[in-house]
Amino acid sequence: MLHGAVGFHIRRRSKMEKVPVSMHKDAKFESVRLYLVERKMGSSRRAFLTQLARSKGFIVEDILSDVVTHIVSEDCQASSLWTWLEGHGVKTLPMMQVLDITWFTDSMKQGKPVAVEPRHLIQGSLPMLPDATTSTPVAKVSQYACQRRTTTANSNKIFTDAFEVLAESYEFNEMEGQSLAFRRAASVLRSLPSKIQSLRDAESLPFLGKHSIAVIEEILQCGFSMEVQKILSNERFKTLKLFMSVFGVGLKTAEKWYRKGLLSFSDILAAPGIHLNRMQQNGFLHYGDISRAVSKAEAQALGNIIDETVHAITSDALLTLTGGFRRGKDFGHDVDFIVTTPEMGKEEHLLTAVIESLKHQGLILYCDYRASTFDMSRLPNHKFDAMDHFAKCFLILRLDGSRVEGGLCGAEGDGRGWRAVRVDLVSPPMKQYAFTLLGWTGSKQFERDLRRFAQKERHMLLDNHALYDKTKRELLAATTEQDIFAHLGLQYIEPCQRNA
Ligand code: CTP
Ligand code: MN
Ligand code: MN
Repeated sequence: MLHGAVGFHIRRRSKMEKVPVSMHKDAKFESVRLYLVERKMGSSRRAFLTQLARSKGFIVEDILSDVVTHIVSEDCQASSLWTWLEGHGVKTLPMMQVLDITWFTDSMKQGKPVAVEPRHLIQGSLPMLPDATTSTPVAKVSQYACQRRTTTANSNKIFTDAFEVLAESYEFNEMEGQSLAFRRAASVLRSLPSKIQSLRDAESLPFLGKHSIAVIEEILQCGFSMEVQKILSNERFKTLKLFMSVFGVGLKTAEKWYRKGLLSFSDILAAPGIHLNRMQQNGFLHYGDISRAVSKAEAQALGNIIDETVHAITSDALLTLTGGFRRGKDFGHDVDFIVTTPEMGKEEHLLTAVIESLKHQGLILYCDYRASTFDMSRLPNHKFDAMDHFAKCFLILRLDGSRVEGGLCGAEGDGRGWRAVRVDLVSPPMKQYAFTLLGWTGSKQFERDLRRFAQKERHMLLDNHALYDKTKRELLAATTEQDIFAHLGLQYIEPCQRNA
């Protein structure tokens, strides 16, 4: 089975929860504490639903307090609901899931708390912006993306697009500090439930400094930022962006080509003395296909193909969709999978067997295999670099349109009937599965902030392999992502809320 949908795992009780277990003798899902909002629901229906949930082993709190994790409401008027919730002065409100009744009914049907999906969320129910017209203390937006819930619905795209251009431009000029500042500011804005309407909305947010506020001001006034427009029409910026859009071309190579005076792909291909490595050759060869976004249906089709391949090799294999598609994105630049087996030490062999089989099926257009350099005895690795040490491969696969529900995305014209797609496979030992899943699900900004939070707030080191407690000097084991969040003393954030 392809573990594409996010299953619910029972989370370990966080040390911070104070309510005694004995109060909930029949509770099956201790980490989930519901609160049903009576407004619009009515008291008799609330009593009925409370009983129903309790009979199925759910904990339902009668009063709204810090221990509540899931608020369920039938009131779809988000703004009045929010005002009402805020009036209770519960400090942990920004960390609670505020959900539509459909999440509750889905959970009752399945007899367990279902994973939160975007359709369950009450729009605008995330931490609110400071409101100058009321004197109620407003929920503060955390400086850590792993303490914010960020769905794919970005109400501030006009600002975040501008910030991303600035971040990239600083990166191209090797000003990493400024680049990171704009990436963080963009990430904060992405988590907001509504569009910023005035400067006052933005001023008290973390990471929104003078420069980013000035950009917001300009956009609010004239719909665009002069500085961003200038960057977008800058020859060096445009050329580096173009070159880096080729698979296998990073900033260094792009800069080298630009310095030689090359401005287009035809310049590169015609220039004497330019050596393209195998990755770049394939990047150019399949440029049209792999520069086009991969759709959800195409990702699903690839999942099915790899799933069949994996299970023809061994029946106990585990294949999990990860990366952007696990976060609920509709399009991605590639498709990421974790493939492993409970048989210790066999995972690397499984990956090479998968590659062999894909080759036999004629599906591999390009394969860059990286053998494992993972060594448990060397953990914790204090370098905690971006790249993990598990066996992995970066692939370009051939995807036939006949395998895709609704056909290939936007390629009807050329009549080829197939397209090339970038696919990443990573193969960790089962013991490291939860860390790999958390690390590869992303987003990059979410991962960065998980690590920063672990280090700064918990004196712990987190990477794709392990979590190390520097105070206790020990590695903390985890079999699920929920375990890792619990070790970090963080509320669990669903994959669809990690689009930071
Ligand atoms: N990642 C990683 N080690 C790698 C490659 C990727 O830990 N060698 C992680 C990245 O940090 C990221 C996730 O895997 O969090 C997915 O990477 P990527 O495919 O680049 O990004 P997506 O979030 O999936 O975005 P897209 O939809 O554009 O592919
Ligand atoms: Mn991806
Ligand atoms: Mn990837």
